[in-house]
Amino acid sequence: MTMTHNQPTIIPKPVALQYHEGVFTLLSQTVIVYTDPRTEEIATYLAEVLAPPLGYRLLVTDHESRAKCPAITLCLVSEEGHTSPEAYSLKVMPGGIRIAAAGPAGLFYGVQTLRQLLPPEIMSPFLVTRTPWQVPAVTIHDAPRFAWRGLMLDVSRHFYSKEFILKFLDVMALHKLNTFHFHLCDNQGWRLEIAQFPRLTTVGARRASSPLIGDRHSQDGIPYGPYFYTQEEIREIVDYARCRAITVVPEIEMPGHCLAALAAYPEYSCTGGPFQVRTCSGYEQNVYCAGNEGTFTFLQRVLDEVMALFPSRVIHIGGDECPTKRWQACPACQQRLREEGLPDEHALQGYVMRRMARYLAQHGRRVIGWDEILDGGLPDDAAVMSWRGTSGGEAAARLGHDVVMSPTTHCYFDFYQSDAYASEPEAICGLIPLQQVYNYDPSAGELSEAERRHIIGVQGNLWTEYMRSYRQVEYMSYPRAAALAEVAWTPQECRSYDNFLSRLAVHCHRLDLLDVHYRCV
Ligand code: ACM
Ligand code: ZN
Repeated sequence: MTMTHNQPTIIPKPVALQYHEGVFTLLSQTVIVYTDPRTEEIATYLAEVLAPPLGYRLLVTDHESRAKCPAITLCLVSEEGHTSPEAYSLKVMPGGIRIAAAGPAGLFYGVQTLRQLLPPEIMSPFLVTRTPWQVPAVTIHDAPRFAWRGLMLDVSRHFYSKEFILKFLDVMALHKLNTFHFHLCDNQGWRLEIAQFPRLTTVGARRASSPLIGDRHSQDGIPYGPYFYTQEEIREIVDYARCRAITVVPEIEMPGHCLAALAAYPEYSCTGGPFQVRTCSGYEQNVYCAGNEGTFTFLQRVLDEVMALFPSRVIHIGGDECPTKRWQACPACQQRLREEGLPDEHALQGYVMRRMARYLAQHGRRVIGWDEILDGGLPDDAAVMSWRGTSGGEAAARLGHDVVMSPTTHCYFDFYQSDAYASEPEAICGLIPLQQVYNYDPSAGELSEAERRHIIGVQGNLWTEYMRSYRQVEYMSYPRAAALAEVAWTPQECRSYDNFLSRLAVHCHRLDLLDVHYRCV
């Protein structure tokens, strides 16, 4: 047993952890007991993730049939002290382990902590024979700092298989990250099957070429796609995420970043096209026509299918980087301005956003958008994702809107991780080393206590213009996403970068065993 008792290696660091005398030893006769049928799948998950290194699958049983064996017990409780459904307590005694929480998510997080209390070899995909499966006796009380602990993955610029998405979710779950923001469409490709608009994928999911590796202003000339997720695959992803306490928040970009959709349906543009799916990155002038009623019907029908696939109450409708040049020259858009009494094209963007937000609200959903949605007048109840720094997020919080902080200064995981640029894989620009992510405090802005409560979380963004393989996505994600997980989970006063680094050394061994590519620190 090599685990040192004064060196917990749990990431994100729990709020309160106390060591006791002794250890619990996991043996083949250990049973996993669940007390509520709603948590059977968490018990089954635990048995499944432990099985490969153990070489056996622990028995999963409910309370009634509880055997006289040492047990790992998952208790769904409603008692005081577990006010958040994500909070949990974990007590490891030599005779058994008890995880208690008021909601399934809390139990799931207790299970993740238990995995990290075991020797790192517990992450092995293969049988491990020489490691005693001991867990130090501890009492842990834990709860997240923020409700939104997110990663965004752009699958438009590059596409990744469903199998990789499931693995990505597994690694998020290990870090108690709970929101997967799925950037499903952009100028460079539409990746979601929509039954009513088949051309979105027959036309919009392929492009003629991509930026050349190492020379982004040239093209490789290699056709890309069609690559997209079928609705069946999306259902599988959403359910896999749900089992891991992760909400999948889909993003349908509007009114800009939509050239792939316009290549398929040019009638929803101002000029009528024709258009090609974009092959390079950069600003795109062609956007949805805000004067054409057909555009709204189209977007609403797309969102109908999106809502049927994604149970998330929050739907992301983009809103970033929408140039107004086409709107200025479009008779239909100009007529809309006059009819609605809008002062300018920024207000027209606000009109589009408010109209779509109202549609989603009628269906019980709530919008989130990039911070440009502040510029044209925020839809009621809209949440704001602050990316152009933090001032947009702070302004939104002052207006009483919820905010997810994701500033380019700390949260853009498509930026370089090291200034040894020549030895790093090609990244978009910029520099965000691990320590910069770790030292981010999403609540640091000048806000009152009431305003600060509107900062509901933090998110790392993986824009994938230059991430051509899933290995590169992992490399750009980790260990920065592990640092972000601690920003999102652990109280600010309990965090220290040096302490994080000492835990990260062990944690990287886990990532190795899970076959996650990461940047060594
Ligand atoms: C963004 O990075 N355009 C949100
Ligand atoms: Zn127009």
